[in-house]
Amino acid sequence: LSYGGKEYELPVIEGTENEKAIDIAKLRGQTGLITIDPGFKNTGSTSSAITYLDGENGILKYRGYGIEELAEKSSFLEVAYLLIYGDLPSQKEYEKFTREITTHTLVHEDIKKILDGFPSRSHPMGVLSSLICSLTAFYPESLDPTRNEEAVNLSIIRLLAKIPTFAAWAFKNKVGHPVNYPDNSLDYCSNFLKMMFALPAEGYDADPVVAKALDQLLILHADHEQNCSTSTVRMVGSSQASIYASISAGINALWGPLHGGANQAVIEMLEEIKADGGDTKKFIDKAKDKNDPFRLMGFGHRVYKNFDPRAKIIKKAADDVLAKLGVNDPILDIAKELEEAALSDQYFIDRNLYPNVDFYSGIIYRALGIPTDMFTVMFAIGRLPGWIAQWKEMRENNEPIGRPRQVYTGATEREYVSM
Ligand code: MLT
Repeated sequence: LSYGGKEYELPVIEGTENEKAIDIAKLRGQTGLITIDPGFKNTGSTSSAITYLDGENGILKYRGYGIEELAEKSSFLEVAYLLIYGDLPSQKEYEKFTREITTHTLVHEDIKKILDGFPSRSHPMGVLSSLICSLTAFYPESLDPTRNEEAVNLSIIRLLAKIPTFAAWAFKNKVGHPVNYPDNSLDYCSNFLKMMFALPAEGYDADPVVAKALDQLLILHADHEQNCSTSTVRMVGSSQASIYASISAGINALWGPLHGGANQAVIEMLEEIKADGGDTKKFIDKAKDKNDPFRLMGFGHRVYKNFDPRAKIIKKAADDVLAKLGVNDPILDIAKELEEAALSDQYFIDRNLYPNVDFYSGIIYRALGIPTDMFTVMFAIGRLPGWIAQWKEMRENNEPIGRPRQVYTGATEREYVSM
């Protein structure tokens, strides 16, 4: 049998063609004739109708709507509704959706017992994924794969409603301050900012510029097809685990510095360059030196081949927001110098290394007063609707449990020798 560029010696098989085909199929199974594609660089794990990426032209669309138009004209919760339910909401649908979310922003007081168990040095992402997973204890019906659609939708509303509360509480745990309860008279982002920054005996009013900028950033992070964290949510969900456990797994996948943790790693890199005198050329040369471990964080992307459309929007927003807030952050200038240097250097051009969504987002978060170790938490809040939409699509399509194959490369026959 000639297959995949290799020749296989087949045993002489008597009998019908069907018998021969079955034996060949068995042989293929034994020889592991499968496509190996570590990290899914060239194969897809599923099909989806939610988010479209055009890597060559830097196009990103949610359910067919361009990201630029959505970021300009919609609110984050409108985009969340679009991703999860497939259409932008009518005014009546939007009012019902936001009213349902408002109803569920409060969390069970027992959550504080879990929160108090985390030392203040805990990274907020670990606290967030744990608190989200703990919802399985408060809502055990989520463990029932046969629960009705109303129950499924309630779990979706609970996730959207409670993640800002959990995120703010994870921050308060980090800084050792008392938690704040939701203020349902506020919009989604203003409520989050108040829970984050309000201090006892002090009033707090979120700056509308800050709240609007945050709302736009959440839109830009809302979904991005089958990346590391989204395929994790689908994989865990494919075993019919609770939606809360599936989302918690996605948060943990996002945490890594090669994924959502990159926005924190970018700021740490820019701070390192600033502390070293701001010599961007020195760090460009270091990044090109294969013997130097330094790498430019926030550059390049698996799918986009020349630019990340979100980075363009965020870069402009960074200029606008810092100007409106009167913030003069020298690391924005360092970021722009790095970008200009990289985009004019053949080394980076040849490797498709240009700013991605994480390169500028941390600069805005900083200007909004968000602390560095909360940047990836902000990414998780933004990505939640996308994870939910992808989990819902997988469930509605009755997709089988995810189970990648492998090609075995170890020993097959070994003789046991007692000690
Ligand atoms: C994302 O938005 O999740 C990041 O760009 C990573 C990716 O999509 O691979």
